[in-house]
Amino acid sequence: MTVATHFIVARNDIQNSRLIDTHLPEADALPDETLLIKIDRFAFTANNITYAMLGDELKYWQLFPAPDGFGIIPVWGFGEVIASRHSQVGEGEILFGYFPMATHLVIDAADVSKRGLRDAAAHRQGVAPVYNAYARVTGDAAFAGRQGDYQALLRPLFMLSFLVDDYLAEHNFFGAEQVILSSASSKAAFGLAHLLHSQRQPVRVIGLTSASNVGFVASLGCYDEVVSYDRIDTLPARHPAVYVDFAGNGDLRGRLHRHFGERLVYSSRIGLTHQNAAAEEADLPGAAPTWFFAPDQIRTRAKEWGPGGIDKRFGASWAAFAPKLAGWIEVVEGRGPAAVERLYRDTLAGRVPPHQGHMLSLATP
Ligand SMILES: NC(=O)c1ccc[n+]([C@@H]2O[C@H](COP(=O)([O-])OP(=O)(O)OC[C@H]3O[C@@H](n4cnc5c(N)ncnc54)[C@H](OP(=O)(O)O)[C@@H]3O)[C@@H](O)[C@H]2O)c1
Repeated sequence: MTVATHFIVARNDIQNSRLIDTHLPEADALPDETLLIKIDRFAFTANNITYAMLGDELKYWQLFPAPDGFGIIPVWGFGEVIASRHSQVGEGEILFGYFPMATHLVIDAADVSKRGLRDAAAHRQGVAPVYNAYARVTGDAAFAGRQGDYQALLRPLFMLSFLVDDYLAEHNFFGAEQVILSSASSKAAFGLAHLLHSQRQPVRVIGLTSASNVGFVASLGCYDEVVSYDRIDTLPARHPAVYVDFAGNGDLRGRLHRHFGERLVYSSRIGLTHQNAAAEEADLPGAAPTWFFAPDQIRTRAKEWGPGGIDKRFGASWAAFAPKLAGWIEVVEGRGPAAVERLYRDTLAGRVPPHQGHMLSLATP
């Protein structure tokens, strides 16, 4: 009997994690239309910690059921079909998509096409469709080996970068001459900085980061200026600015709003990398902070650009971004429960150097 291992965390205290084993059904006992997937490897970044922090609010816990009081954090990665009860999907096929932190997953395959399929399991409905979609990537060089690692580590984050860049440009940067990004060393932030820097000049791109990450952020070459969090009073407050917040740090936001006052013309909330930071203050000067909601921008553009319009433009942007990654990111592989546990703790504590991209597997080496 095959055993599946899952990495679970307490929903009300994500510092509390453990491993559990469950028994998988034998191949001939799988229900019709289902696939048994062996999860080969997955990316893990601060974004996955944010999924856990917002697990209840944004229904991430619902995707992969766990024992009472616990949740399984979703991750982007690759799996191999090791048993199939669906006539159009063969064993040995490779899928790219949203997986649990586990060794295996059973998918209820639906809407199978040449390019992908969907998990129709009842508990997975009611979330954004992107979370239930799997791409069939067998033999696709863009998803194989190191290129595949970059896809898992950055592609989902770069979609956010792409949408924010598009939204700001559509609104003519709200009249601002500079865009300020917090957690500038994060993958989602530097994807956005790359897009702004390469196509929106003369708008200036300013990265805010920890003192220890200034060197890495400056080395990327896609920020016009890099400023550490303790020096934001040096920012040019005479020019209108947009703030794109990946850190979710209330103290930082307060200082920035007070520094720019009414010249902070748009203030977005995107991420929560600084998990233990001070809460947001109310009644700050400047534009009221607003959550950027990616599905809204997708809906707007899907209507305006028509079928395939987003994919075509996003594909072109990714094609220009991907070649840079070999010089920016060192992929680090970790196999086995101990490696996953260690990287989970390091990511929670903010100990992962920004030039590293971690690809993990729970399978014992
Ligand atoms: N709203 C959306 O739809 C959406 C979509 C994608 C991503 N996001 C969010 O964007 C953020 C960035 O995600 P990512 O995966 O790109 O991150 P990442 O590459 O793993 O970011 C690493 C950086 O985040 C900061 N950081 C991480 N953990 C920290 C901790 N415990 N304490 C203090 N700083 C910490 C540090 O940057 P600094 O030193 O530069 O601060 C660190 O270098 C996440 O919060 C993610 O959820 C949101």
